[in-house]
Amino acid sequence: MPYSEKVMEHFKNPHNQGEIFDAVAIGEVGNPLCGDMMKIYLKIEKDNSDNRLKDKIKDIKFETLGCAAAIACSSILTDMANGKNLKQAFNIEKVDIVKGLGELPPVKLHCSVLASDGLKVVVQNYLRDQGVLDNYQDIKNFKVKDSH
Ligand code: FES
Repeated sequence: MPYSEKVMEHFKNPHNQGEIFDAVAIGEVGNPLCGDMMKIYLKIEKDNSDNRLKDKIKDIKFETLGCAAAIACSSILTDMANGKNLKQAFNIEKVDIVKGLGELPPVKLHCSVLASDGLKVVVQNYLRDQGVLDNYQDIKNFKVKDSH
């Protein structure tokens, strides 16, 4: 499989890989096409306002059991999300991940979905744990799709 140099770089030396033991939120997703799994851990810095979407990602790590593309996507995703607020993080889509990596072989595009879904799920879980998910209907309504 011809991967770009950037994909290989992130696959061989993934950024932010591992577990955050005192994470405030954890999100887990599986890719229905291949059975691969991804887990995302977050640490959050709370904003002073009532808007939890302004809370910032202070630390983010991932554990991915998957192909090289899935690991590279997870790595670049965590780089992109780190320091962002939750609204910005939730809005990171698979196209942004693919752009961040330069390119992905077409048969591997679905691997980027695992990463963007994982981040959306962990944001959802955080807001649910805070008891405010009902205030953010767009995020509440997000569902991992069965096919991509
Ligand atoms: Fe499973 Fe890439 S083949 S995520």
